[in-house]
Amino acid sequence: MRRAAYRGEIVDFTGDPLRDGEAACRHFADGLLVVGDGRVQELGPFDALAARIGDTPVRDLRGRILVPGFVDAHVHYPQTDIVASPAPGLLDWLERYTFPAERRFADPGHAAEVAGFFLDELLRNGTTTAMVWATVHPVSVDAIMQAARARNMRLIAGKVLMDRNCPADLCETAESGTAETRALIERWHGAGRLGYAVTPRFAPTSTPAQLAACARLLDEHPGVWLQSHLAENADELRWVAGLFPDARSYTDVYDRFGLLRGRSVWAHGIHLDDADRERLAASGATVAFCPTSNLFLGSGLFDAAAADRQGLRYAPATDVGGGTSFSMLRTLAAAHDVMRLQRQALSGLRALWLATHGAAQAIGLDDRIGSFEPGREADFVALDPAATPLLARRTAQAGSLEERLFALTMLGDDRAVAGVWIAGGCMKPPTARGVDGFT
Ligand code: GUN
Ligand code: ZN
Repeated sequence: MRRAAYRGEIVDFTGDPLRDGEAACRHFADGLLVVGDGRVQELGPFDALAARIGDTPVRDLRGRILVPGFVDAHVHYPQTDIVASPAPGLLDWLERYTFPAERRFADPGHAAEVAGFFLDELLRNGTTTAMVWATVHPVSVDAIMQAARARNMRLIAGKVLMDRNCPADLCETAESGTAETRALIERWHGAGRLGYAVTPRFAPTSTPAQLAACARLLDEHPGVWLQSHLAENADELRWVAGLFPDARSYTDVYDRFGLLRGRSVWAHGIHLDDADRERLAASGATVAFCPTSNLFLGSGLFDAAAADRQGLRYAPATDVGGGTSFSMLRTLAAAHDVMRLQRQALSGLRALWLATHGAAQAIGLDDRIGSFEPGREADFVALDPAATPLLARRTAQAGSLEERLFALTMLGDDRAVAGVWIAGGCMKPPTARGVDGFT
């Protein structure tokens, strides 16, 4: 049995800091994380544990903060190459950049090359699990699943479903999309650490027959996820109202097809009313909060406080390529700013919870990942609070853990991710401590 221990400051969560305050947070200023066979075995103060671990090698990471790996609840790998492509709004951006980029994923060689780059970029940024969109092409799913398997990552992905209102060469039929999805579920769902998500792009590009088929696929395959887009943009809302005149709202369109449920993840959820949020919450659905994307595309501000008030779960997400960064730290900073614009607040503790334990809970994986509870898979990150001169200066003056974590989320990016481990295996070797690389 391979065992290793990691000494450093350790932070994880057993509950939501918004509800449970600091009691939600487990913090060891000088802690030890003991990992064996890819899982967390023990966690505690270094002084108490060190004597018990025998000759287990100890990696000294003092000065870094060990946290569970970040979860990105919504990201499009085929949009890696169109990140930072300006457009007046969502629908124009889809036509002008997204569909041309996604067309190229009929080529398995291209898909494999982008998938490898994409996952390495996630890992460099400390993201160890993601809910990933492929394209309509089944080979694009094979490419991302194979790349995730090669890196031993816990990853959920799915083939885009579109059977109307899209370019002809990206358009399928409800029947062919269903048959291809069924085959992909059988090939990939539950294969090692991989999971499958049924992935209708959004209501405008699926016929009622295709949306109904999605619900049947989910009924047939318990444990499979659903991911889609919901209420992102005002033009999109008008389009949906015209296509589904009988529905009370955009949310109600999906509800009528039985698609609101546990393990369903809805990107954006900006233009919702209280009744929408109530239905989403009651169904067990989750919203992916994509602040950099919503700012970049000018879509609007997600009302996180209303979601909290109504018990609607949400998880932060980059939404690359609508989003402008692979970094969950940058994403949390944008989430904070979006909340501030609405007179809401996001603490450093809650931000870190949202990207780890909260996200794992929201997508139904908290029994596997998201915390350092013994038995959880050992996906973790070493954050360096002194990664840049400014971070070093600011965090040195921070009095509390909250203040340091807040500075890290507001000022941090990939440079603050000093090391990354997947199931106990090192994917980004820890850098030497200090801004100039000196220990
Ligand atoms: N709505 C439908 N497709 C997309 C997409 O690819 N990105 C975003 N941000 N919204 C969408
Ligand atoms: Zn998206």
